[in-house]
Amino acid sequence: MTDTALPTQRIAVGDCITLMNAWPAQSVDLIFADPPYNIGYKYDQYEDKRDDEDYIQWTQDWIDGCAHLLKPRGSFYILIGDEYAAEVRLHLKKLERQRRLAMRNWIIWHYTFGQNCRLKFNRSHAHLFYCVGSAIFTERFKKNQVPFTFNRDAIAVPSARQTTYADARANPSGKLPDDTWYLRPQETEADAPSDGSPWYFDADGDTWYLSRLCGTFRERQGWHPCQLPEALLERIIKVSSNPGDLVFDPFTGSGTTLAVAARLKRNWLGCELSEEYARRATERIEHAARTGETMLIPAREKGIERGKPRKKPEPHRSRRTADGQLVPLWKD
Ligand SMILES: C[S@@+](CC[C@H](N)C(=O)[O-])C[C@H]1O[C@@H](n2cnc3c(N)ncnc32)[C@H](O)[C@@H]1O
Repeated sequence: MTDTALPTQRIAVGDCITLMNAWPAQSVDLIFADPPYNIGYKYDQYEDKRDDEDYIQWTQDWIDGCAHLLKPRGSFYILIGDEYAAEVRLHLKKLERQRRLAMRNWIIWHYTFGQNCRLKFNRSHAHLFYCVGSAIFTERFKKNQVPFTFNRDAIAVPSARQTTYADARANPSGKLPDDTWYLRPQETEADAPSDGSPWYFDADGDTWYLSRLCGTFRERQGWHPCQLPEALLERIIKVSSNPGDLVFDPFTGSGTTLAVAARLKRNWLGCELSEEYARRATERIEHAARTGETMLIPAREKGIERGKPRKKPEPHRSRRTADGQLVPLWKD
């Protein structure tokens, strides 16, 4: 059920903390948050380099805003890098002590195509905190009824008992994935089955196989510095929401969460500081809603030709004028 007082099927342009706190409490079924990581990425309207204390306070404020919006039986996922994972975990503990939400898993997304380092090991993971709303403190778990949405069968994978040992005791509907999600490039879109079924549910494995999105991948839109793979969101949205539920993303970016939500017939709502990102993301989401498919952009259309340097590099670090003003990526 969607709260009617809340806008849906749109991206609200502005600061998510202000917006979230102005919206009615306990009105969203599923929240996925992928904030800027404070590592100097180049965004259109956001400076991704703040003092530690300032960033940590801001992080706590937006997490509180999400806790305010989350329905008691809702789910909340936060994706974060190594730099601030510990601080996020501590704040979630505080909210748990206040019985506002409860953490269920600390998931590791193991990806390939991370940045190559010269004198240390290449980073290949991000942290995904999976939490549920306050009903877990007041409602009992019953056999076929739990105090949050968890569609086990929508994301089950074949177990080794089924695929390797032909064990008669194996659950025919498979098993739940582990809490390490391994996404590598070998099984990317080139190998996608023609019937459109998700290829990252590898028949022989109980882990996810899909990499970070490279510039050449058709799924990569090419105008946002840190677009997530739709496969990551597909699992989250399928397990933690139902068609018609409201999925919210406070940091919409290129619109990955909301495009997958629209494709899976969920209602959607986002916040985004950049008007330009919001405009382009809306096009992507509306395409997904209309066609039921991922918007794909051939590499050539993004100025990438095999064996040649990219004509227009993707943004990586924000620029400021001499008096400290952020320079927008796009000019009118
Ligand atoms: C890491 S990106 C999200 C990428 C997104 N998950 C995707 O797949 O495209 C973070 C986004 O948050 C936006 N942003 C930063 N501060 C914000 C704020 N206070 N309110 C709303 N959006 C904000 C940035 O402009 C950026 O697009």
